[in-house]
Amino acid sequence: ARPSGNWYVVGASRDVGGDRPLARTVAGQEVVLWRDAGGRPVAGPGICPHLGAPLRDSPVRCGTLVCHWHGLALDGGPFAGWEPFPAYDDGVLLWVRLDAVGGEPPLRAPVVPRRPDPARALTAVYTGVGVCEPEDVVANRLDPWHGAWFHPYSFVDLTVAGAPDGPDGDAEGSTGDGFTVDVSFKVAGRLVVPVRAVFTAPEPRTVVMRITEGEGTGSVVESHATPLGPDDRGRPRTAVVEAVV
Ligand code: FES
Repeated sequence: ARPSGNWYVVGASRDVGGDRPLARTVAGQEVVLWRDAGGRPVAGPGICPHLGAPLRDSPVRCGTLVCHWHGLALDGGPFAGWEPFPAYDDGVLLWVRLDAVGGEPPLRAPVVPRRPDPARALTAVYTGVGVCEPEDVVANRLDPWHGAWFHPYSFVDLTVAGAPDGPDGDAEGSTGDGFTVDVSFKVAGRLVVPVRAVFTAPEPRTVVMRITEGEGTGSVVESHATPLGPDDRGRPRTAVVEAVV
């Protein structure tokens, strides 16, 4: 129920900056992202406004995307028939704001989860694509019991230590807006690492798991679900961009 401001995660910050744009389809909308001459991320529709070339195949030269059909140059600013989309680099992930897709009142910046100090953190970003809706990813990630049921080779001794407030706000064992879970990660054989983790959803397509006790305290795993659009059989496809910090 929380606002997203129409921001969608499209990939890792480090994916953008070479001589090719990053191209993604978000909810059926083709998007290209690249960095301008100052290193700032810029984004816009993936179709050239001249005669419709796919900009995903065009090179980036000194911060300008140059259409490979007839050389039209886009610097990230508006061009007749091509309106840029707001883009945001949070240091780990890149976001694009698609107001026509999201339909919410826009926010100036995305809702970025609180993370460990980047100067003292390691980051990994993984992207996978599934046949499902973003809500399915969020529901799965917010189900604290599913780890014990579906991944018994990874988790043991899972206990839900606290659940979010109910509508009346005073549920027994309530922990505000998060699920608190005590669980042990299996490492090898009988070697396990017990941790306490808190799961929250700061915006409608993001679930954050924060380790609050045990090995890796302060680490976060963010799962971002971005709708891609239907596949050739009409089934919904969703990218899961997972950032471990
Ligand atoms: S289609 Fe891009 S310049 Fe002509």
